[in-house]
Amino acid sequence: MLSVENLRATYGESEVLHGINLDVKPAEIVAIMGRNGMGKTTLMKTLMGIVPERGGDARVGDVSIVGKKPHQRVASGIAYVPQGRMIFSSMTVRENIETGLTTTGTKEVPEDIYELFPVLLEMKSRRGGNLSGGQQQQLAIARALASDPKVLLLDEPTEGIQPSIIREMARTLRKIRDQKGLTIVVSEQVLSFALDVADRVIVIENGTFVHDSPRDGIDEARVSKFLSV
Ligand SMILES: Nc1ncnc2c1ncn2[C@@H]1O[C@H](COP(=O)(O)OP(=O)(O)O)[C@@H](O)[C@H]1O
Ligand SMILES: [Mg+2]
Repeated sequence: MLSVENLRATYGESEVLHGINLDVKPAEIVAIMGRNGMGKTTLMKTLMGIVPERGGDARVGDVSIVGKKPHQRVASGIAYVPQGRMIFSSMTVRENIETGLTTTGTKEVPEDIYELFPVLLEMKSRRGGNLSGGQQQQLAIARALASDPKVLLLDEPTEGIQPSIIREMARTLRKIRDQKGLTIVVSEQVLSFALDVADRVIVIENGTFVHDSPRDGIDEARVSKFLSV
């Protein structure tokens, strides 16, 4: 569903992604783990067209998305929950979700989004900035789902979120995958969350994948070693 081949990205002269290869099956959840500065955000921004790729290919289904603008990529079926959530704090919850509808031709927020996140229905007229961190994360996910994606990217969704809410987030993401058959790629530094949510765990170091293992039978000690400073 998501195929990435030899993807490269640079900031100025310095190459940060050194030829990433990744194949994610329909309805598969993959966690990409790595310490700060290893290239997780750059990978997601490059897939979304926010950072230009300097070579390689990326496809959603059969459609190549490289060279396209971010909104064209969204229309091709890929959506993104950025690190730090980046919701619009002065806009209401409903307005925030509506910004995700631009590529779908509908003006109404689909019912099933509020069914997944009942708290957002309750709070739909509140300003985004007045929500708790966990609620803002739900809002950012709802906004991304509003574009009806086939592939959802989440960049460190647990950052700054309480442990009890983190477990709930893992359950919700698996539920969305089960209900919608969504393919999910999530970057993460928290191993327990990755093990809760993912079918497969990949480790990135300095812009290269160095470890790739199914969730079942994973060598937790080995992955932990990559994550410790
Ligand atoms: N806008 C930028 N300009 C220059 N270098 C950057 C920029 N953003 C990130 N980098 C560098 O790229 C590397 C990967 O960063 P990033 O993708 O943010 O890592 P992660 O998300 O894993 O913490 C780091 O060395 C970082 O300093
Ligand atoms: Mg990052």
